[in-house]
Amino acid sequence: MNQWLCCALLFLDISMKWTTQESFPPKYLHYDPETSHQLRCDKCPPGTYLKEHCTASRETMCIPCPDDYYTDRWHTSEECLYCSSVCKELQSVKQECNSTHNRVCECEEGRYLELEFCLKHRSCPPGSGVVQAGTPERNTVCKRCPDGFFSNETSSKAPCRKHTNCSVFGLSLTQKGNATHDNICSRSNESTQKCGIDVTLCEEAFFRFAVPTKFTPNWLSVLVDNLPGTKVNAESVARIKRRHSSQEQTFQLLKLWKLQNKDQDMVKKIIQDIDLCENGVQRHIGHANLTFEQLRALIESLPGKKVGTEDIERTRKMCKSSEQLLKLLSLWRIKNGDQDSLKGLMHALKHLKAYHLPKAVTHSLRKTIRFLHSFTMYRLYQKLFLEMIGNQVQSVKISCL
Ligand SMILES: *[C@@H]1O[C@H](CO)[C@@H](O)[C@H](O)[C@H]1NC(C)=O
Ligand SMILES: *[C@@H]1O[C@H](CO)[C@@H](O)[C@H](O)[C@H]1NC(C)=O
Ligand SMILES: *[C@@H]1O[C@H](CO)[C@@H](O)[C@H](O)[C@H]1NC(C)=O
Ligand SMILES: *[C@@H]1O[C@H](CO)[C@@H](O)[C@H](O)[C@H]1NC(C)=O
Ligand SMILES: *[C@@H]1O[C@H](CO)[C@@H](O)[C@H](O)[C@H]1NC(C)=O
Ligand SMILES: *[C@@H]1O[C@H](CO)[C@@H](O)[C@H](O)[C@H]1NC(C)=O
Repeated sequence: MNQWLCCALLFLDISMKWTTQESFPPKYLHYDPETSHQLRCDKCPPGTYLKEHCTASRETMCIPCPDDYYTDRWHTSEECLYCSSVCKELQSVKQECNSTHNRVCECEEGRYLELEFCLKHRSCPPGSGVVQAGTPERNTVCKRCPDGFFSNETSSKAPCRKHTNCSVFGLSLTQKGNATHDNICSRSNESTQKCGIDVTLCEEAFFRFAVPTKFTPNWLSVLVDNLPGTKVNAESVARIKRRHSSQEQTFQLLKLWKLQNKDQDMVKKIIQDIDLCENGVQRHIGHANLTFEQLRALIESLPGKKVGTEDIERTRKMCKSSEQLLKLLSLWRIKNGDQDSLKGLMHALKHLKAYHLPKAVTHSLRKTIRFLHSFTMYRLYQKLFLEMIGNQVQSVKISCL
């Protein structure tokens, strides 16, 4: 400790005993040689030093400390204290010196003071994590990761992290984690072994006119608010927004709404119609049984971004032959930011070299397109749909019919 400070403290300590503690400004007793009296003089405030004691006719005279000197309490010292010299190596100024405060140094970022030295903060090894981050005064506190948590790094900052919950991501747990390793998840058998056509051609045909050409930011909320029956909850809407591109969001929302309201009469009617449509599509192209080469030729003729050969192989493995083409079309649609599958298919048929597909197949594809395109169906669905949802949506939607 600064020796000036020691003396000053001692001095303050002694003078403290002579004074009454309640008075303000604090006082000290001073023997005045002129009058031979004990006087009660005011002490000097922080930031000053004592120039002259008080007399019977004059108060104590205190003068501001010069630069680089300070006093930080009421006192009777005739000098200010010298501010500690500049900070040492590995230290930085926490608080500059002024007339009332000494300069305060602290260890720089990532270090703490141990005796005289600024030492590096401890890093917690794998298997343990930081429970209290280090400060300039204190070392890091590490603790072994409790059950369900892990740390796979050496770090002075990272706390233990929760093991990944595989089921939240629709995955299954293949290797349980421990203190040093996260859970290892893998794709569940269920999702790899299902063909899983998300939105069928018929659903697309039905839902498409609810997809605006210009997607306003609040479109999904407008739709949610105006669909009758059980509302799709906010959590599901958020999930749909997170997982799907803007166009696809409408399809996903309507699908969910359909599922949640399937017992309501008007929805039953829609579901019946969609089923009827699906049967029609199956009747037209379900028996096509295309080979890998034929599928590839057809899929390569679709415009826009291409569906890869691996996707075709995977689809052939996972989907029934009657579903393969439909699945690939749905993959193409999603890949291309929700292009109209029917338009894509028409484009493909027009550009496909004749020898790639048997005549019977192209014929049934054309019939399917005509079937789905049939004006009556679109009109029927539009009418149904517009009846269901209010005027507000109609006005937004008219532009895309
Ligand atoms: C001196 O510094 C302290 C803290 O840094 C501050 O609170 C105080 O107001 C300053 N005093 C003067 C006179 O500048
Ligand atoms: C630590 O685990 C995370 C999450 O499982 C992983 O992303 C990261 O690569 C791992 N880091 C090391 C160094 O093993
Ligand atoms: C994982 O998440 C599911 C569903 O949110 C929850 O039921 C389950 O308890 C969680 N498992 C663990 C180990 O936290
Ligand atoms: C934690 O699991 C990993 C592999 O999952 C293994 O290599 C390691 O030995 C395990 N550690 C402990 C302490 O059991
Ligand atoms: C997934 O299925 C395969 C066989 O199809 C089986 O060997 C494996 O154990 C299954 N994995 C899980 C996590 O169920
Ligand atoms: C599809 O064709 C393959 C051979 O090209 C045949 O083995 C298979 O039985 C056919 N499947 C159907 C459902 O007709």
